[in-house]
Amino acid sequence: MYSSIVALSLALLAPLSYGAILDVNVGPNGQFVYEPPFVHAAPGDIVRFHFNPKNHTVTQSAFDPPCVPLQDGFRTGFIPVAPETNPLPVQEFHVPDNQGAPLWFYCGQTAHCGQGMVFAINPPADNDPQSFQAHRDLAIARNGTAAVAPPATTYHVPRHDPHWNPATAPTHAVTPQEHRILVGADGQLAYSPAKITAAVGDTVVFEFRPKNHTVTQSSFYNPCVPLEHGFKSGFQPVAADATEFPTFHLKIEDTAPIWGYCGQVNHCQSGMVFSINAVESGPENFAAFQGRAMHYSSFYKRRN
Ligand SMILES: *[C@@H]1O[C@H](CO)[C@@H](O)[C@H](O)[C@H]1NC(C)=O
Ligand SMILES: *[C@@H]1O[C@H](CO)[C@@H](O)[C@H](O)[C@H]1NC(C)=O
Ligand SMILES: *[C@@H]1O[C@H](CO)[C@@H](O)[C@H](O)[C@H]1NC(C)=O
Repeated sequence: MYSSIVALSLALLAPLSYGAILDVNVGPNGQFVYEPPFVHAAPGDIVRFHFNPKNHTVTQSAFDPPCVPLQDGFRTGFIPVAPETNPLPVQEFHVPDNQGAPLWFYCGQTAHCGQGMVFAINPPADNDPQSFQAHRDLAIARNGTAAVAPPATTYHVPRHDPHWNPATAPTHAVTPQEHRILVGADGQLAYSPAKITAAVGDTVVFEFRPKNHTVTQSSFYNPCVPLEHGFKSGFQPVAADATEFPTFHLKIEDTAPIWGYCGQVNHCQSGMVFSINAVESGPENFAAFQGRAMHYSSFYKRRN
């Protein structure tokens, strides 16, 4: 009697004990990614999500729409994790027996899914219209800033531009452009490019490369001091071997020059600054701004 109960429970447990555990990092290094971005799993396997610092979710969706919870789907809810937490909190997803159909997930935190923070179990191959990359592209197209930004149908009179001339200003609708600035490319303390011009309605996307930089708005006269009520990305630590990079999006509202710097210790003073729409023909140009940032540094050092 006793031995048959043991045999029965062993028989019940046996299939489960073969389930593999697949570890997935949620938001490693402050990035809006799952690492790996997808897994191939068999029924009974367990996908174990490790929540890194910040405040992410794992929420099941359909392939289309992305970034929208699937009714009765899996959801962890928000898991806020303080910096330096160890060990990381974990949530497990048990892979169902669904004939290997793909399962799609995303982070429900504001703007994360639209930046491509999606995950899949058993996605079809790359050449399939429902591949992982196709799903990620769909998430960015539907919920990214490009989707949120209203199309520029009218040209707004620039509020701060002394050079504005109605005779030469465009009167027709323009297509908003996206400008990309790499932050700390190749380990350098620089934005590349460091000075750009952008039209009203355009978006500037700062892409953070390895190290730990910020994008912080300042003013021409105080290059390395945050502007009150200015924009700031906060620190974006990126691992040296990262292959996906966090981004910070800035919508251009008018043609006034925008000045900014990296808030990491000594980076601004090393010249890590940028300008958008600086008037290069005038005294308040990019080189003058960068000079002020670096002069401030030597001035500061002399006094200390
Ligand atoms: C993505 O966009 C859809 C449609 O606008 C919206 O319903 C959904 O809440 C968005 N998802 C996220 C995670 O923001
Ligand atoms: C986590 O994010 C959610 C949604 O944005 C928010 O309601 C919640 O307060 C956040 N929790 C913490 C501790 O920041
Ligand atoms: C990033 O830099 C800030 C400021 O120096 C620091 O407080 C933070 O711990 C750094 N983060 C990492 C992950 O190195």
